[in-house]
Amino acid sequence: MTLLRDTLQGAVVMAPMTKGSNLPYRQLCIELGARVTMSEMTVARRLKQKRKGEFALIRKAEGEPFFGVQLAGNNPEEMQWAAALVESRGADLVDVNLGCPIDFFTRKGLGAALGRQPSRVRRIVEAMKQGVRHTPVTVKIRLGWKEDSKNYLELAAAAVDGGADAIFVHGRTREQRYTKSADWDAIAEVVAAVPVPVIGNGDLLYRHEVAAAFARSGCTAVMAARGILIKPWLYRELAGGTEDPSAEDRVALYRRYAHLAKAHWGSDDVGLERIRPFLLWHFGFWCRYVPPRTDGTYPTLQHRETITPRSPLEALLARTDAEAHGYLTDVLLRDEAIDVEAVPPPADIPADPRGRRDAEDESAG
Ligand SMILES: Cc1cc2nc3c(=O)[nH]c(=O)nc-3n(C[C@H](O)[C@H](O)[C@H](O)COP(=O)(O)O)c2cc1C
Repeated sequence: MTLLRDTLQGAVVMAPMTKGSNLPYRQLCIELGARVTMSEMTVARRLKQKRKGEFALIRKAEGEPFFGVQLAGNNPEEMQWAAALVESRGADLVDVNLGCPIDFFTRKGLGAALGRQPSRVRRIVEAMKQGVRHTPVTVKIRLGWKEDSKNYLELAAAAVDGGADAIFVHGRTREQRYTKSADWDAIAEVVAAVPVPVIGNGDLLYRHEVAAAFARSGCTAVMAARGILIKPWLYRELAGGTEDPSAEDRVALYRRYAHLAKAHWGSDDVGLERIRPFLLWHFGFWCRYVPPRTDGTYPTLQHRETITPRSPLEALLARTDAEAHGYLTDVLLRDEAIDVEAVPPPADIPADPRGRRDAEDESAG
C-alpha cells in the first residue's frame, strides 16, 4: 500500500468546496492533471439519516485517482460510523472539517467551532481511526477562531495525538474569512511542529505562487480552492502548459465540463435542470480570470483586478452579469456555438449608453 506521504508529495490538492467540488468538476480537474481531490463538506449526521443528497457527495468518480471525503460532525461515535461508511464506499482518505465559518454550522458546534476544542478533536480522530481499516484520517484546520485566540499548534498536536495521518492548514482565522492573505509562515510552524505530512492552503492562483508556497513552508503538499474554481487549467500550467490560455481554449474547457456534467446528471430535461445552476455558479468564478499583466507581473487572488479584454470573446467571458452567464450557460447546455453579437446586454446597464448610470450610483446599492 502506498504511503500517504508518497501520494501527497508535491501535489496540489483540489480543496474541499461546497458546490465547487462537484463530481464532474473534479473529473475536469483530473483530466487537466489533478491527482488528489476532495469531496464537498458532508455532514455525518445527514449520512446517518440516510439523506440521498448527502450520499451523492461521498461518491467517488470512476477512475478518480485519490479521493478524500470531508466529514463535518462533533460526536465521536457518529464520526466513527461515518468514517467506516465512507471507507466502504471507496474513499481514499477521510478528513474532519474544523474550519467551516458559517454560523449555521458553528452554532451546532461544527466546523470552526469544533476547532476551538482540541481535546474533543483528539477524541474524534481516535474514534475515526478505530472505525477505519486502512484509510488515512486527517483534519483540516484554520489558524484559530480569531486573531487573539489562534490555537493552530495546539489543535494540530491534539489531532496528531489522536492518530491523524496528515494535517491540512488553511492559513487564516475564522474571523478573517478572506479579508487577509493566508499566513504561510504560520503554516511552516505547523510543518516544523508535527511529524505527519502538512498540506498548506491559501491564495494559490499561479505556478510561481505554488512553488513559493512549497519553498516557504516546507509542506508535503499544498491545496488550492478559489484558484481552481477560477482557473481549472492551473493543473495544466503546473505541468508546463500555458499560463494564459486563449478565450477559445477556455470555452473548450467549460464545454468539457458541461459534457461531463451531462454524462453525470443526464442530458434529458431533468438532467439539464440539475446542471443549469452549477454552470451559472461556475461562471461566477470563471469570469474572474485575469491574465498575467503585460509588464510580466501577476494578478493575485487577494486583489480583484479588472481585465482589459483582448477580444470580444474574452470580454464576454469577463462579464459578471446574469444575462451573460445565462446566455453562456444555455449555449453550453445546448452545445451550440457562441455568438458574441447575440448576447443580451446586462439588465442594469441599458443598451442605449445615454441611459447608463454612473458607477457611483451603482455602488450606492
Ligand atoms: C466555494 C467554496 C466552498 C468551500 N467549501 C468548503 C468545504 O466544504 N470544506 C472546507 O473545508 N473548506 C471549504 N472551503 C474553503 C477552501 O477549502 C479553502 O480552505 C479556502 O478557500 C482557502 O483556499 P483558497 O485561498 O485557495 O481559496 C470552500 C471555499 C470556497 C471558495
